[in-house]
Amino acid sequence: MLTISLVGQKGGGGKSTVCWILAQAALARSHESTILLVETDKQGSTSGFVKGAHAAYPELQDRLFCEKVSNGEELYDLVEKAMESGVDYALIDTEGRHSDLARDVMSMSDRIIIPVKPVLHEYHSQLATVALYEALHATLKEDGHQAAPCGLLLNNLKPAQKLTLEQAGALDVITGHPMMLPFFMPFRTAYETLGRGRILPLERSALTGAGQGLARKHLDVDIAEANTILASIEGMA
Ligand SMILES: Nc1ncnc2c1ncn2[C@@H]1O[C@H](COP(=O)(O)OP(=O)(O)OP(=O)(O)O)[C@@H](O)[C@H]1O
Ligand SMILES: [Mg+2]
Repeated sequence: MLTISLVGQKGGGGKSTVCWILAQAALARSHESTILLVETDKQGSTSGFVKGAHAAYPELQDRLFCEKVSNGEELYDLVEKAMESGVDYALIDTEGRHSDLARDVMSMSDRIIIPVKPVLHEYHSQLATVALYEALHATLKEDGHQAAPCGLLLNNLKPAQKLTLEQAGALDVITGHPMMLPFFMPFRTAYETLGRGRILPLERSALTGAGQGLARKHLDVDIAEANTILASIEGMA
């Protein structure tokens, strides 16, 4: 099982969205992969997503699960149980604030992702989360352990957009951070609407009509992008 957590104290950076995109990619990988979405956020956006997905695709009830946890002990038990029952991916969506739970989430993950939108003040807020990770890293090192790989993921980037000088400067600062991952998440309309319970690979399989070629093409691009992000996260060292 691979446990990937989405953390960051700045709300709206894209933790829930990235979590769902990774779930889409994991579902697209194989018809058998099982995915557990773990929610530590009281907002409940991830459980809402899973509810919507189950309503639209009842067959997913056997391979897409969502559980809420409110403390480190519950999280530990859940991760143990998921490993024993053969879950392939545990994706942990967290709330936008620092707490003991955020630290527990980090220490129980195999990969830690801090999504950040290409905006300077949002980036500065996320640096507090980088500091939290660094503190964890130092503590674990003292005890002879290693922290899981962690990186800032530039999210919501519109590659074709014309940047003002100020925006270009901000992007330079943000991408210059030593923990910035060498891949990014583009802005996509389909990603913006995932919260409605959409499951892109299943939507794609249902598009068999002759006049649906363009829709198929768009979904293929979105799914391929999601796959690239998941594969890149898996490959983080
Ligand atoms: N790559 C993307 N493409 C399109 N829209 C995106 C993308 N990433 C995030 N968004 C949009 O940005 C908004 C905030 O994203 P999201 O809810 O995932 O952030 P969050 O970090 O989970 O916030 P919170 O801390 O409040 O839980 C949402 O409306 C989402 O649809
Ligand atoms: Mg969220």
